[in-house]
Amino acid sequence: MARRRLDCLLLGQAFSGLILVSLGLSFVQSNECPQLCVCEIRPWFTPQSTYREAITVDCNDLRLTRIPANLSSDTQVILLQSNYIGRTNDELEQLYNLTELDLSQNNFSNIRDVGLNNMSQLTTLHLEENQITEMPDYSLQDLSNLQELYINHNQINTISANALFGLHNLLRLHLNSNKLTTINGQWFESTPNLEILMIGENPVVGIMTSISSHWATLEAWFWLGWI
Ligand SMILES: *[C@@H]1O[C@H](CO)[C@@H](O)[C@H](O)[C@H]1NC(C)=O
Ligand SMILES: *[C@@H]1O[C@H](CO)[C@@H](O)[C@H](O)[C@H]1NC(C)=O
Ligand SMILES: *[C@@H]1O[C@H](CO)[C@@H](O)[C@H](O)[C@H]1NC(C)=O
Ligand SMILES: *[C@@H]1O[C@H](CO)[C@@H](O)[C@H](O)[C@H]1NC(C)=O
Repeated sequence: MARRRLDCLLLGQAFSGLILVSLGLSFVQSNECPQLCVCEIRPWFTPQSTYREAITVDCNDLRLTRIPANLSSDTQVILLQSNYIGRTNDELEQLYNLTELDLSQNNFSNIRDVGLNNMSQLTTLHLEENQITEMPDYSLQDLSNLQELYINHNQINTISANALFGLHNLLRLHLNSNKLTTINGQWFESTPNLEILMIGENPVVGIMTSISSHWATLEAWFWLGWI
């Protein structure tokens, strides 16, 4: 957490002068902003570091046990870091333009309780520092535009063969600091565009064979100690 906040801070410092002067920050605070949250248009960078602006709902650090109701349907970024949320109901269902969802440092133990249906625009998903124990088959299959998945610092001991099915645009996968004992090459057959895999700090004892050609070097990296 501390590191990510620091990254944001540094990025903020680097760009804030420019952004504040040249664009200003437009506020869209309205009746639809959930109590205690801050709703505004903020600078947002794509995973390729392209500058955008995004309609942002910031509900970080509010001790929430559920996702606020009445989120505006044009919401693009929802920040819910450091709350006590363990499941969602239908709060995210109408948010067709959601591009980033941050549920890091919450109480999820089952990835299916995150309610990741119909999020075809979602680019970045933060689930780090929860208590998720497994990634079942097809649990992320609706996230066809997902480019970054942060699910590090959980308790994951099982990733099913088709857990990453549908993530054909995934570029970065952070699985470090979990409880994985094997790495299965089959996981990555669904992610032909993966560029960065962070899988350190797992008690890995072996790699399952049948690694696809794209990941032919995975075993070599592992035995060289790079992952
Ligand atoms: C959501 O909006 C509806 C209609 O505007 C209102 O009746 C309801 O109280 C709101 N719920 C919350 C939790 O703010
Ligand atoms: C979603 O984004 C598109 C393209 O920017 C826009 O036309 C549409 O109105 C947005 N939908 C909502 C519900 O805001
Ligand atoms: C969330 O998790 C923390 C730490 O595991 C626990 O102390 C707390 O009771 C949980 N809260 C809820 C609402 O589940
Ligand atoms: C997903 O969206 C389609 C239409 O775009 C809708 O028919 C369907 O009910 C939605 N499913 C969920 C789970 O929201």
